[in-house]
Amino acid sequence: MDSKLQRVKLSDGHFIHALGYGTYKPQEVPNSETLEATKLAIDAGFRHIDTAYVYQVEEEVGQAIKSKIAEGRVRREDIFLTSKLWCTFHRPELVQHGLKTSLKKLGLDYVDLYIIHSPVSMKPGEELFPTDEQGKTLFDTGDICATWEAMEKCKDAGLAKSIGVSNFNRRQLEKILNKPGLKYKPVCNQVECHLYLNQSKLLDFCKSKDIVLVAYSVLGSHREKKWVDQNSPVVLDDPVLGAMAKKYKQTPALISLRYQLQRGVVALVKSFSEKRIKENIQVFKFQLTSEDMKVLDGLNKNIRYLTLDSTAGHINYPFSDAY
Ligand SMILES: NC(=O)c1ccc[n+]([C@@H]2O[C@H](COP(=O)([O-])OP(=O)(O)OC[C@H]3O[C@@H](n4cnc5c(N)ncnc54)[C@H](OP(=O)(O)O)[C@@H]3O)[C@@H](O)[C@H]2O)c1
Repeated sequence: MDSKLQRVKLSDGHFIHALGYGTYKPQEVPNSETLEATKLAIDAGFRHIDTAYVYQVEEEVGQAIKSKIAEGRVRREDIFLTSKLWCTFHRPELVQHGLKTSLKKLGLDYVDLYIIHSPVSMKPGEELFPTDEQGKTLFDTGDICATWEAMEKCKDAGLAKSIGVSNFNRRQLEKILNKPGLKYKPVCNQVECHLYLNQSKLLDFCKSKDIVLVAYSVLGSHREKKWVDQNSPVVLDDPVLGAMAKKYKQTPALISLRYQLQRGVVALVKSFSEKRIKENIQVFKFQLTSEDMKVLDGLNKNIRYLTLDSTAGHINYPFSDAY
């Protein structure tokens, strides 16, 4: 961890900021909110921004970045921008098209990081979530190694500075790492990771292979009804976390974020509120003791909020393995 710049070195030599701003939003929220919130996040000091084709906000994220460049607040090279290859673009001949479509929406000529959003492949086409008449997801066979080779070509073409994966389990990471003729390793694996799903085994494995674990839903996810079981426990309401927040005179959200940074995890966090955006960037201003890190380790319950059940029938569904 580069403490002065709060960045982490990737295996390909590039650096990623330890804290990233997430741009997922529920469909009913207007895209203008993403535009305004992303601008606020850059003003507050966020330099790492996480988006995806499937979030359908790439235009607004690109506009926010370009408006801050035009104001002179940042240069393009100060921003670390991630986008993701959606499941309908897994066929090798579609990968670069997927990235170019994202770049066109962003209005930019490269992303800093392009990652395979999920190992599950879906039927190519315009629909983001293709389904049959019964509402069942239409999958594609999908060979993640062939998709990866096409990702490598995107890096060679200069369209993405770094390439990685998301929602891959250990077996799927190994499949890529052991691929004959591998040119570039995935620099990261972006996965759900918070106090109730601390991913300690996957983290150890990733560290052993110099793959950065990027955590999403660090605060316990957006808890959107469509995706998350409403009866699941709420991370930020945890009493041990609450007591620790009081002890450090911080909020449960900041303790949750700080926990990830201190274990070498890059943490994403999303907020549309100016107050909470400004709060979240305060994570660099305090430190947890190693004893308290152990207490927080002990809160793990292996609760996954985003189980993506509609994709469970695919051969590459990642969450059936223990990690
Ligand atoms: N690769 C993947 O498959 C994947 C999946 C999920 C997410 N992601 C990425 O990770 C990002 C973050 O994950 P997430 O959106 O699930 O949720 P999250 O960062 O865990 O945030 C959850 C909720 O916490 C609230 N919040 C933010 N700061 C807070 C604070 N200081 N105190 C209390 N509440 C606070 C936010 O609401 P307010 O807006 O009201 O503040 C937000 O709705 C996403 O936006 C996306 O970029 C990736």
